[in-house]
Amino acid sequence: MYIKSLLIACFLFFLGGNYLTAQNYEYVGVAKCKMCHNKTSTGAQYKIWAQSKHAKAMESLNATEKKDPKCIKCHSTAGSVNKDLLAGLKMSEGVSCESCHGPGSGYKSYSVMRSRKKSLAKGLILPTKEVCIRCHNTESKHYKKFNYDEYVKKIAHPVPSIQ
Ligand code: HEC
Ligand code: HEC
Ligand code: HEC
Ligand code: HEC
Repeated sequence: MYIKSLLIACFLFFLGGNYLTAQNYEYVGVAKCKMCHNKTSTGAQYKIWAQSKHAKAMESLNATEKKDPKCIKCHSTAGSVNKDLLAGLKMSEGVSCESCHGPGSGYKSYSVMRSRKKSLAKGLILPTKEVCIRCHNTESKHYKKFNYDEYVKKIAHPVPSIQ
């Protein structure tokens, strides 16, 4: 009897543990990514993003639209996620790194980031077309035909050494 309840307790603990690690990643905001991803020698991803339409997506909206859930769900990472998960990310950051790469609280430390395997296990996403068409679809009044190969070239921000 004792062994049985112990086993059940262990099982529940295991489930709970998995639930916590899977659900608790938070959105840390672009300033965190910038700390390590803005050197020319490793690709200056922050700078490339900051000059892109994604970074300026909130600037396309007027004051009323900036508060409209129907607009910010695609024009801002912060507007598209559960408010409880915001840990530094601001609405004004537009379509930020974490819209495409996933919430960063689990993978942002150097010891995790330097390993692709560990990063992927801690919530990093290497995005494919499916991520883009969450927003690039006909629900948007301004939709232009989305060709993944063409569009992904326009936002390219590679790490020179990985390529
Ligand atoms: C403490 C430093 C640090 C921070 C903070 C950091 N990164 Fe990284 N990241 C790295 C390093 C180191 C690599 C390995 C590649 C390299 O040397 O540039 C990397 C790689 C990556 C990769 C490529 C993974 C692969 O295997 O192709 C992505 C995508 C990425 N980071 C996104 C982010 C995002 C988004 C943030 C902010 C939420 C972030 N990083 C914050 C250091 C960091
Ligand atoms: C389903 C996601 C989605 C929703 C919802 C959405 N947008 Fe957009 N919006 C986009 C995308 C993606 C683009 C870029 C279009 C492209 O280049 O294909 C865009 C572009 C724009 C532009 C720039 C147009 C241009 O030609 O430069 C404006 C302005 C805009 N949206 C306003 C709004 C407003 C206002 C709302 C709310 C009523 C809204 N959007 C809702 C995804 C969305
Ligand atoms: C609109 C989506 C999007 C946004 C926003 C975005 N990325 Fe990416 N990122 C991608 C895609 C797509 C790739 C290519 C993935 C692949 O090669 O599998 C990529 C690749 C990377 C890589 C790896 C490059 C390589 O050579 O393997 C790094 C590092 C990275 N992004 C960092 C960032 C950082 C930091 C930000 C914010 C400052 C950011 N990204 C914003 C979509 C995005
Ligand atoms: C969270 C929503 C969202 C996601 C995810 C997203 N985008 Fe966008 N994208 C937008 C919005 C909104 C705009 C328009 C910004 C503006 O001009 O206001 C845009 C604009 C662009 C533009 C500029 C188009 C032009 O007319 O110059 C390119 C290129 C682009 N996206 C590529 C991508 C690619 C490739 C991916 C996937 C790797 C992606 N986007 C994922 C929302 C998103």
